[in-house]
Amino acid sequence: EKGTYPHFMLKEIDEQPFVIRKIIQEYQNEKDEIKLDPEIREAMKACDRIYIIAAGTSYHAGLLGKQFIEKLANIPVEVHVASEFSYNMPLLSEKPLFVYISQSGETADSRSVLVQMKELGHPALTLTNVPGSTLSREADFTMHLHAGPEIAVASTKAYTAQMAVLAILAVDTARAKGIKLDFDPMQELGIVASAMEALTDQKEQLEELARNYLSTTRNCFFIGRGIDYYVGLEGSLKLKEISYIQAEGFAGGELKHGTIALIEDGTPVIALATQENVNYSIRGNVQEVEARGAKSMIISMKGLDKEGDAFVIPHVHDLMTPLVSVLPLQLISYYAALHRDCDVDKPRNLAKSVTVE
Ligand code: F6R
Repeated sequence: EKGTYPHFMLKEIDEQPFVIRKIIQEYQNEKDEIKLDPEIREAMKACDRIYIIAAGTSYHAGLLGKQFIEKLANIPVEVHVASEFSYNMPLLSEKPLFVYISQSGETADSRSVLVQMKELGHPALTLTNVPGSTLSREADFTMHLHAGPEIAVASTKAYTAQMAVLAILAVDTARAKGIKLDFDPMQELGIVASAMEALTDQKEQLEELARNYLSTTRNCFFIGRGIDYYVGLEGSLKLKEISYIQAEGFAGGELKHGTIALIEDGTPVIALATQENVNYSIRGNVQEVEARGAKSMIISMKGLDKEGDAFVIPHVHDLMTPLVSVLPLQLISYYAALHRDCDVDKPRNLAKSVTVE
């Protein structure tokens, strides 16, 4: 139920700190160790490459999952859009492990890959918010997202839950392989939950940004580098699906290879700047678009922020920034849709779970 909330989407955005805390609880035992099905641990240890299969927002979570698993657990990862997998099927490694990420657990495109790969004998791990779902039943193993029912068509809390669970999985695998890390996922997720809480209290400021940048525009660009780029992809998907503004996410450095031609006087460009190693170059990209008339908005992180940034998120671990920086984007999309009189929870042409290929 929505309770006092006008829309499920807003309620689900606000629930994110609780979901993260729930995940910390569910994936920890009394000894503060990671609690995970030992068979999943073995499958992760045994594989030589991971293939993440997902669609839409879940695919965007998979992109960060690749960073977690490669950087922390040292296993190569490929992330594939489910509907494209069979056309552009990669050469598989000797011991692949397939990881399906799906909020609903019913996405036909992802299921079709699962069925084909199971026929070839490749093990399947599903990350889903619905444990009894098709993708969960048909996989060998399941990790539950614990996000609670997600009703709004636009996915919000499932996305951050997926990234949190992927971080835990990556660290568990690293530990199982004897890799020493100075990264405690539960501690970092605790910091993330508090940061999220602080942001859900800044709605007025984000509503104002949405009003100022997005009430009448036809289009909008999101730019970022590194993992900020992935968050930009998610931000643009959120915005386009509920506000119908044509929105695209681009890698900061790729913009000048064509897309910059679309920048006109007043075109909104939302730039993410939460990573120290790209802070300088992404700000350079902002200057490039501003020189062509863009109306830019920089979302940065405390410690890396500069005067004039539109919004600053609290400081969290580098790898964890997407879990926090997506919140202002979700809220900006929400308010943009609201200001434009769109049906926030049930956007046109979309269904909550896509059960056709
Ligand atoms: C976007 C959105 C969709 C889903 C996609 C996959 O807000 O909700 O892009 O993420 O249809 O759905 P699941 O995760 O249920 O497989």
